[in-house]
Order: sequence, then C-alpha cells, then structure tokens
Amino acid sequence: MSHDEKTSNKSGNRLFNEVLQVNLERRKVLTGGLALAASSFFLGMASTTSAVASDLSGKGATAGKLRKRGLINFTPVKIVDGSGPWPMVSSDYYFDVLVPWGEALQPGGPSFSHPPAANEQANQIGIGHDGMWFFPIMGSSEHGMLALNHEFGRNQHVLGKPNPSNLEDVLTSQHAHGVSVVEIKKLDGQWQLVASSAARRIHVNTPVSFSGPVADHALLKTRADNEPMGTLNNCSCGFTPWGTYLTCEENFNGYFGATGDWHPSESQERYGFSDNGFGYGWHNYDPRFDLANADYRNEEHRFGWVVEIDPMDATQTPVKRTALGRFKHEGIALTVGRGGRVVGYMGDDQRFDYIYKFVSDDNYESMLARGISPLDHGKLYVARFNDDGSGEWLELTINNPLLSARFANQAELLIDARIAADILGATPMDRPEWTTVAPNGEVYCTLTNNSRRTTVDAANPMAPNRDGHIIKWRDSEQHTGTAFEWDVFMIAKESHGTEQSFSDPDGIWADPDGRLFIQTDGGQKAGLNNQMLVADTTTGEVRRLFTSVAGAEVSGITVTPDRRTMFINIQHPGNGDPASSNFPEVFDGVTVPRDATIVLRKKDGGIIGS
Ligand code: FEO
Ligand code: CA
Ligand code: CA
Repeated sequence: MSHDEKTSNKSGNRLFNEVLQVNLERRKVLTGGLALAASSFFLGMASTTSAVASDLSGKGATAGKLRKRGLINFTPVKIVDGSGPWPMVSSDYYFDVLVPWGEALQPGGPSFSHPPAANEQANQIGIGHDGMWFFPIMGSSEHGMLALNHEFGRNQHVLGKPNPSNLEDVLTSQHAHGVSVVEIKKLDGQWQLVASSAARRIHVNTPVSFSGPVADHALLKTRADNEPMGTLNNCSCGFTPWGTYLTCEENFNGYFGATGDWHPSESQERYGFSDNGFGYGWHNYDPRFDLANADYRNEEHRFGWVVEIDPMDATQTPVKRTALGRFKHEGIALTVGRGGRVVGYMGDDQRFDYIYKFVSDDNYESMLARGISPLDHGKLYVARFNDDGSGEWLELTINNPLLSARFANQAELLIDARIAADILGATPMDRPEWTTVAPNGEVYCTLTNNSRRTTVDAANPMAPNRDGHIIKWRDSEQHTGTAFEWDVFMIAKESHGTEQSFSDPDGIWADPDGRLFIQTDGGQKAGLNNQMLVADTTTGEVRRLFTSVAGAEVSGITVTPDRRTMFINIQHPGNGDPASSNFPEVFDGVTVPRDATIVLRKKDGGIIGS
C-alpha cells in the first residue's frame, strides 16, 4: 500500500541515499575497475537505464554457469503488461485460489454479497490480503491454521461508494480490516477452508489488551474510558518460536480525522495525522476516530503496534506488545540470537523513516518458563548506516540523557519512538518494508522507493529512488550486538523490453536453501503487472515465478513445512475496479474483484522456488 503523504520526518538526519553514494565511491576506491561488475553490490549500478535488466537477465556467461547449480530451475514466466486480467505462473507450476474476500469463516456461514452487511463481514474473510503465516496442525503439510492480515480496503471497493453514509457503513469497513484466522486442509488434492473451533475474525472492534512498558500508561487511557479495541491496517507479519502470530499495524494515522477544530500535536504531526486521514470517513460516525473529540483523546496511541495472536485459541485476547515501539510497523522478522534471545527486525514504512530491532533481555524459553513474554522485556534499537559499510544499532532507552531530556519515561518514549529515533540520529531510509533473516544470518530489507528524493545528481539512480532497492546486513554477536556490516543486495529497475525488470520490492522471504522470494507493490510505472521473483542470494540470479493481475500487488508469503505448497496473496485486484480486473470472477462468478490467497504448487511436487 502506498500513500502519497507529506514527509513527516523533519529531523534533518542524514539520508540513506547520501550514505549509499559515499559508500559506492568508497568501494570504487577499494576494489576498482571491472571487478565491481561481479559484486552483488553493483547489480544494476553500471547504467541508469538497463543495468539491472542485463545483470538479472541470466543471459551472461556467468549466469549460464550459475544456472547449473540448480537452486532455481523453473521456467520463468514472461512479464505481463498492466492489462493482464489473470495471474500467470511459471509453466512448471500451477495455482489455486483460496479464501477470497467475503468467504465465510466457517463452511455454511454467510456467503459474499456486495456491499457486505457489517454483521456478515465480521464473520467473513476481510479484504486487503497481506502478510500471513501457516501454522501446521501436528506438523502437517496438508492441514493447519492460516493467519491472514487484511491491510486495507478503500470505501469504493468495500462499500461501492466513496464515503460511508452511516455507522453501519463504517462498521462494514472496520470489519473488513484486521486479521482472519482460518483452518485449511488439503482434501482430494485441493486446499480448502474447513470447519474450525479455532477460526476467528479480529477486526477494529475486537477487544485487545496491552502489555509491556506502555500497558498502564495514562497516554493509553481516554476520558470516555472506552475499552481498548481493534487492530487495523495490518500489513506484514511475523511469527514467534513459541507458535504465535504477530500482526503489524502500519498506516494507522489514515483512519483518524477531525469533525471540528483540531490542531495536531508534535507527535500527531510526526505520525502524519490529518483532518481527513486517507478518506475513510470513520471519524464522522465513530467518535473513537475523531481527533477533535476530547473524550477520545489518546485513542490514536492505541494503534501503531505489533500485536500477538494465538492462532490455535479463538478465546485468546490479542496483545499489543508495546516494548517493540509505536510506528508504522510494516512487519517483523524474528530470529533467535546469541543466548537464545529473540531478535526482531522491523521496518517503519514511510519516506525517510527508519529500521528498528528488538532484542529480548534473556533466553526466550527461560522467560516463557517464568511466565514472562520475551516481547515485553528487551531493548529497542534504531539503525544508523555509516559511509564505510558499518552500522550501529542505537538503543532507544530513557537512560540515554539525550532521550530523558525529551521524554519522562520509557513508556512515553515508546509511544513516540519515531521522535526518539530522530533525536539519536538514525538514518532516514527509502520506505523500509519487509525484513527477512536468511539462514546464513544475513538480514534483508526491501526499500520500496522514494519519489521525494531531490538530490540533483542525474548519475545517481537513487535520486529520486523510483524503483527501490534491497539492502542486507549482518549483525555482530549473532544478532544481539550493536554493530553491523551492511551492503546493497540489489537495485530494482523497471522498464519495458527487459525481461527481468521489476520495481518497488515489498514482500520478501528467505527460504532455508538461500533463495530470496521478492514480491512487488508498484504503481505499474512502466505499465507492468506486479510479480513475485525468486533470487539466488549467492549468485544474484533472479527469475520471475508469478505475475499478478492488473491493479493488484503481490503480498504475503508462507509455506507448509515441506515447502511443497506456498501461499501468496493478490491484494486489491483492479484496484477494486471490475473494469480493470474482475479477478477471480472466473472462479466464483462474482462481479466485484476480490482480494484472494493464491496456492502455488510445483507440477513435479518439488520445493517451491526450485
Ligand atoms: Fe503495507 Fe508498506 O506496505
Ligand atoms: Ca508497499
Ligand atoms: Ca507492504
């Protein structure tokens, strides 16, 4: 999802693009000449027009040799222009459609109608399919719970009109957001939704709780004393070693507006609140989202968190883990670091915002055994990228005099994590989206684009950063240290006539073999559909596995334990306009485009991506 907001980071911290350019110069000095072309760092940097395409085309002698290594063997699918009404997949694969927007959570439940009634939508799959994770039942690769995020659905798509007319409309919109947890099973060779006692919808009006340093703070309380409810703009996700799902609240500011006189605070400015948000109009009928209503002051502090959900227990109250900070959480990639500490990498997706990391205080199993959540007790850091390829994780702690001069306590600091990060001099990035931890310990992060870069150096393809890039880093002390080494993995470039072009990398997942799955969420700047590519992290080879339909991004990625089934999502087909795409009408006969999950399998039964 992309929002053309004004830049809210006015910290003046040094831009990543500037650091990157200096870093490029440094490497020219260090390595020099043609040797640069072999470095993954320089994929796409040789020219501003076609270098990525030629480097990624696989036509070169080097790429020919690398293909024999066999990590990626499928026949690539051709690039499809923006008129393509159907998904396309490699000829070595096939796909099915699962859990489209509006399908009942339980077989026999309310079937889809448009626009949905609010009470029906609360028991149906939401819209805006995004991050998701498959939780196997008894280790099965044919049966499990699927937790699925519903990031957003514009009013025109959900309600069939640009603005809600009453509270019922607002409730429909709110119920279309959030998370679905469904039970799915492969029956007669086909994945399908089955009846489940653990299935549930979590939406904007579902009771939630808070945990961690902010839990009992006055800034989470309202004069109306309304109970905390809901999660929204659930973008990407993560999962924990103890079997829970983490859903990440991204553009929460866009759901608030003001019915009357309202002047944004410094915090509200920094998080991008405005009179009319993204135009959802909820504030006109639901006072929780009305910034001008003093009774609901602080309601906005209840959003912008990472939320923990038990996918196996429908009675569990979702918990907002405040130690992970409040910002526009794209997603979280969790890994286990030195001493069994759990480490989470997180992007804050806005132009010129930051990359964060959380490290639990202790061994996660020991903490769980003591009844303590590893996500409630730990250190939060923000990244600074130095010119020389080194980096530092700057701890966001009230013990730092720079921060105690601004914040009264850790809770206030975490609520305004962005402001704390500004103060410490974190590096403003080009819209950090997903992160993933590769089996070799490298962490990858997509930086989707940054149209607002104004550096006038025409030779620098990053200014403006039209198509985005992917960086990687390696932390000291098995993810728990404060130093890291960073590099650029790939710079994206989209153009016609270049078979491997892509832009706007967003979803990303490193599989255990060293493949990197890259999903795109572009504005189809060159008129091309979004797609999913598979990269070899060792060689830089890239092949296209899947292309989406017109007006739709590809989002979300998860696999069964045997990796013979992969689930991905088509989000906002046709941008909600059936004239652009009516996917998946061919499957269901409904004449409104519906976000849906795509089930990918290889015809020879092989591992996905091979
Ligand atoms: Fe929800 Fe940044 O994409
Ligand atoms: Ca995006
Ligand atoms: Ca995204």
